[in-house]
Amino acid sequence: MAKIVTESIGEFYQHYPKVAAIVTARAGEKINAMAAAWHSSISLKPPLYGVSISPKRFTYKLIVESQEFGVNFVPFEFAEVVAAVGGSKGEEVDKFKKFAIAQDKPIRIRVPILTAAYAAYECKVVDDKTYGDHVWVVGEIVAVHFQKEAFTPKQTVDLEQIKPVLYLGAELYSTVDKSRVRLLEREIYGKG
Ligand SMILES: Cc1cc2nc3c(=O)[nH]c(=O)nc-3n(C[C@H](O)[C@H](O)[C@H](O)COP(=O)(O)O)c2cc1C
Repeated sequence: MAKIVTESIGEFYQHYPKVAAIVTARAGEKINAMAAAWHSSISLKPPLYGVSISPKRFTYKLIVESQEFGVNFVPFEFAEVVAAVGGSKGEEVDKFKKFAIAQDKPIRIRVPILTAAYAAYECKVVDDKTYGDHVWVVGEIVAVHFQKEAFTPKQTVDLEQIKPVLYLGAELYSTVDKSRVRLLEREIYGKG
C-alpha cells in the first residue's frame, strides 16, 4: 500500500483503536460521566493513571472542584452508553437518570463507579498540566473494582467473559475476539 506523508495533521486518528472508558466525577451532589479515549496508566508504584480532558467538559469542572475521578471500563454490550455519555453534556442533563446508569458505591472517594464496569479505578488527583487544548489530569489509584470472573489468573482480561470497547474514531466502535490472541513471550522473542 502506498503511504501518504503529510504535514496536514488533522484529527490524527491514525493511532486508534483505543479502549473507550467512562470517566465519572462528583462535586457536591452533582454527578456526571463522560466518554474518554485518551487515558493511560503512568506508574505502578505509586499506581498513577492519567486522562486527557478538555477544560470545556463539565466533567473537568467537577474534577477540579473535588480533586477526584473514576475511570470505568465497560463491556462491549454497553458501547451505546459510552456513546451516550460522550454525546451529551452534564451541564444540561443528568446522564445517570437519562441513560439509566446504575451506580456502585466507591470506597475511597465520593465519585460514582458504574455497576456495568468490569473494572474501575477510584483516583485522587495528584497533578494536572495543560497540553494544547486538553488537560492531562493525573490521579493516584486509591481503589480498584473488578469482576473476578472477567480476568484470567494472570490478571489479563478474559476475552471469553468480557469484550472491551474499542473506539476507532469517527463514532465507530469495535471489540476483540479471543481467537485472535497470541502468546508471544518476550524472553523467547527477545533472543531472536
Ligand atoms: C468515544 C469517545 C471518546 C472521547 N474521549 C474524550 C477524551 O479522551 N477526552 C475528552 O476531553 N473528551 C472526550 N470525548 C468527548 C466527551 O466525552 C464529550 O465531550 C462529553 O459530552 C463531555 O461530557 P461533559 O461535558 O458532561 O463532561 C470523547 C467522546 C467519545 C464519544
